[in-house]
Amino acid sequence: MVEEVRSRADIVEVVGEFVQLKKAGREYKANCPFHDERTPSFYVVPDKGFYKCFGCGKSGDVFSFVMERQGLDFVEAVKHVAARSGVEVREVNRGRDEEDPNRPFHEINGFARGWFQSQLADTKVGARARAYLESRGIGSEISERFGLGYAPDEWRALREAAAAHGFDEDLMLQVGLLGTSERSSEPYDKFRGRIIFPIEGVSGQVIAFGGRVLEGDAKDAPKYLNSPETPVYHKGHNLYGLSWARHAIRRQEKALVVEGYMDVVALAASGFEHVVAPLGTALTPEQAKLLSRYCTRVLLLFDSDAAGLKASFRAADVLLATGLHPAVVTLPPGEDPDTLVRSKGAGVLQGHLDDAVDVLDRKLQILDEKNYFASIERTRSAVDRLLPTIRAAADPALRDIYVAKVADRTGVRRETLEAEIERDRQRESRAHTPTPVKRTPRPGTSLPKLGAERQLLRMMVRGVEWVERAGELISAEDFEDPYHRAIFHALLDDPEMRAPPPSMDPVVAQRFEEILANPEELAHGVDVFTKSVNRIRVALLDRRIQELQQRLEAAATDDEKGELAGEKARLARELRELDRNYWKPATRPARSERNPNPPSR
Ligand code: UTP
Ligand code: MN
Repeated sequence: MVEEVRSRADIVEVVGEFVQLKKAGREYKANCPFHDERTPSFYVVPDKGFYKCFGCGKSGDVFSFVMERQGLDFVEAVKHVAARSGVEVREVNRGRDEEDPNRPFHEINGFARGWFQSQLADTKVGARARAYLESRGIGSEISERFGLGYAPDEWRALREAAAAHGFDEDLMLQVGLLGTSERSSEPYDKFRGRIIFPIEGVSGQVIAFGGRVLEGDAKDAPKYLNSPETPVYHKGHNLYGLSWARHAIRRQEKALVVEGYMDVVALAASGFEHVVAPLGTALTPEQAKLLSRYCTRVLLLFDSDAAGLKASFRAADVLLATGLHPAVVTLPPGEDPDTLVRSKGAGVLQGHLDDAVDVLDRKLQILDEKNYFASIERTRSAVDRLLPTIRAAADPALRDIYVAKVADRTGVRRETLEAEIERDRQRESRAHTPTPVKRTPRPGTSLPKLGAERQLLRMMVRGVEWVERAGELISAEDFEDPYHRAIFHALLDDPEMRAPPPSMDPVVAQRFEEILANPEELAHGVDVFTKSVNRIRVALLDRRIQELQQRLEAAATDDEKGELAGEKARLARELRELDRNYWKPATRPARSERNPNPPSR
């Protein structure tokens, strides 16, 4: 077990999660995380699986690194590394697994992945599939990295193999590995004669599958078949490739977003590891949020045709709204990333990546090409087309830049643009809330809550692991204070940030300095962390419930009322759950303290 983890682990990836590694020949170097230094004397040697610092003398393997850096014991360190290396950790992790209601889903999916892989590896059964993958530049190393497999063209091969291992048929029907037809109730294999792409959650558990037909097979079958939505798989909430790409994304401080499975895998085969794809949908806000845990810059790498451009712009708006900075890569006509990198090579693709243009600049370019700035009339309509992009930008700094650029290009004064954006925003919020929402000031809630936000941030600067945990539990939008929100965001981007970067807004930077100057006492770490997280959540739920109540009062139809009331009841339940599960009676503030001034109605 331990040896398996050691051999599967990529020490560069594990160490790279905590320090900024730079490649130096066959090794990597960095400023030593164990002592203070300005010039790097800390080396990681991937071939040998060890690290050494020539400054302070610390050295060891992947486990001792994690033990030392994170203060874990050996077993915990093995678990930490295993979770990042796709090794099943059931054995060392039993206690927690048993409580996991999703475990059966992960188990059946894990079994199926292994079985599909064995079929691809089988000399006879997998021969055509292997040849097909080879013909697309995907050799065994990449196949193994992505766990690619093959579903043979048979009706009950997987079903029988799974039955022999005692897997439940209903479960397999539920996760879409088996299906039934109208003619017979006998379940059959859904994936047949297809290359299998296992879809992993962020931490490497298999949550679904995509399957592609082999070239030349059944013309009437859809090219890709995907697992249905299940309790462990919501396609709009996951990104294909993220579990493999996330460290590279963090290292490179940007992500490439491509359209599909093949692009992700082909780019990985050419050395581009920071690549993800939405799963057969337009990019969703949840997917953007997921990405925002790892980077700020996103390069959109879609087809070069009109549809691809449209998809890029749509995705860009979603990314902007999440505070990310999207740029558009323009590929030569008729190429997708996969065909381009295979026909022209990694260097040519890199050239196109280097030429990526910020989404607003790209819009300006296109409007210019279409002569939009040739007359006053057309300039006026160009402004209308650009405003939504400016308005979408959630990052205030980026928005200022956009306003300045559009002002510069169109000659419309910045104040005028700002006013138009503001007017749009008001129109929009009126459309969402039938009557103006009177925001009842609730000083009593807001004070302790902002305290909780600050306290959480103070915990987060104590160590990367707190940042990770917070990132899993809370999102930036949950913060009420915009400055706290910005700091939280910045910490998710760079969990090791211990000084405000020059690009940080001065007011935010000042707040951040205050937080850094008063880190939370580690002695109460877990306690403070849990309480802060929960106070933020409670406050958020309170806020939502209050808004729902106001909308409920303004609702016109019974249907609408019913829906809002249902939603409100759900949130109230969630709030009670939180109260029950997380607040120790002794420390739990009385309801009146959290909400001394309940809106009377
Ligand atoms: P493409 O048809 O562009 O596929 O669909 P591709 O990834 O380039 O695959 P190759 O190169 O032909 O092998 C883009 C994405 O849309 C989804 C898949 O996620 C695919 O990767 N898709 C497409 C489906 O889900 N079902 C389909 O039938 C087709
Ligand atoms: Mn393709």
